[in-house]
Amino acid sequence: MHARNVRLTAAGFTLALFALAGAAAWRVDSRKTAAASSQSPDPSPAPRELDGRALYEQHCASCHALDEFATTYQGPGSGVAVLELLEFLVDHGGATTDEDRAIARFLAAP
Ligand code: HEC
Repeated sequence: MHARNVRLTAAGFTLALFALAGAAAWRVDSRKTAAASSQSPDPSPAPRELDGRALYEQHCASCHALDEFATTYQGPGSGVAVLELLEFLVDHGGATTDEDRAIARFLAAP
């Protein structure tokens, strides 16, 4: 009888621990979500939504006519060139990495 009670108590204790752990995880989760949403009242647009053409005008057009890159980054087989462009742009032109990506996507678009 006594042993059974101990086992039941242990089981209850274990259950309580699980419940606590679950509650803690949930609290952390919801706090993360709250922090994420409060940190970005003005969320910067996802890379995909950046306008590559506008960014090109803004960051590159003052020094490069678009013709210069007309075919280099387009079509099959241009993958390596596009990768090199992305790498090159890290230290070149005033755009951020996300903007560079949008610009590269714009230059690679047919
Ligand atoms: C302040 C002027 C200036 C701006 C702004 C600028 N560039 Fe350049 N870019 C140059 C010059 C000068 C060169 C040639 C010297 C060199 O190769 O480093 C060059 C070289 C390049 C090359 C290499 C060309 C080749 O023959 O390999 C690429 C690609 C390029 N720029 C793309 C861009 C892009 C894309 C942007 C916008 C994010 C940009 N540049 C912004 C001046 C500029």
